[in-house]
Amino acid sequence: MDNPTLKIEREGGVVVITLHRPEALNALNLSVFDELEAVFTSLAEDPSLRAVILTGAGKAFVAGADIKEMAAFTPPQARAFARRGQQVMNLIESFPRPVLAAVNGFALGGGCELAMACDLRIASERAKAGQPEVNLGVVPGFGGTQRLARLVGRAKAKYLLFTGEVISADHALALGLFDEVVAPEMLLPRCREIAATIAAKGPLAVSYCKQAVNVGIEATLAQGIDYEAELFAQTFATADQKEGMAAFIEKRAARFKGE
Ligand code: CAA
Repeated sequence: MDNPTLKIEREGGVVVITLHRPEALNALNLSVFDELEAVFTSLAEDPSLRAVILTGAGKAFVAGADIKEMAAFTPPQARAFARRGQQVMNLIESFPRPVLAAVNGFALGGGCELAMACDLRIASERAKAGQPEVNLGVVPGFGGTQRLARLVGRAKAKYLLFTGEVISADHALALGLFDEVVAPEMLLPRCREIAATIAAKGPLAVSYCKQAVNVGIEATLAQGIDYEAELFAQTFATADQKEGMAAFIEKRAARFKGE
């Protein structure tokens, strides 16, 4: 599986997707969205997939939406572009397996939004984050105003949105925008380590955990708890639950099949 702006590598149940438009610091345009959509849609059908790592080639994770392509947009074109980007971000956010952003460098504008659509953000010490859209006289269009406020709280989100400040990896870690910061050479190894840990667990249970958090965080506590009970019940219809509990009782490692 290869695409002009993405590089796809697979090792066991873990796929690494590298955004590869280094000449434009991996800026997001319609072709990148089409490719991301095609890859994630096809991976969603793969029962042996356990986790995805998303990273960028060169000095950027993603330096934003493609400014050169957006410059001449009319309002309807801008609306359609925002909707398209949001569709792809939503696809990644609701992807049935964990998606880790390996933030290797600049995660600005649409790049920060893409990282926020992932489940975890592991960053290199060299990474930088921000929503600098106000420098261009626009607002974020791929969910940044919404996901940033949910992730770091409304005041800290407003500070970043109003000032367009580009912050260091350590600052992003302190805000809760990044989840871990590691030495640049440890970025992919650390992401692979997390992915391998996840890959050893019951895949359906991991998938349900993601679903429960994503659905519950947008619902009332009572609705979220109801949803959790439903998913808990559904896990008892799986072979993985029987295997996981039998393995515990027999004092051996579980062999999950994702069924
Ligand atoms: N779109 C298109 N091209 C971009 C780009 C972007 N977002 N970011 C960088 N590039 C291009 C540059 O134009 C340059 O191309 P040329 O060599 O052809 O001139 C190339 O990538 C390298 O960039 P720089 O020379 O600028 O690299 P630098 O190291 O000096 O600076 C940077 C790096 C600080 C990230 C700087 O490139 C920058 O500020 N980029 C724009 C960041 C930004 O404003 N992002 C938000 C975009 S708007 C958005 O994302 C809206 C939305 O939510 C939908």
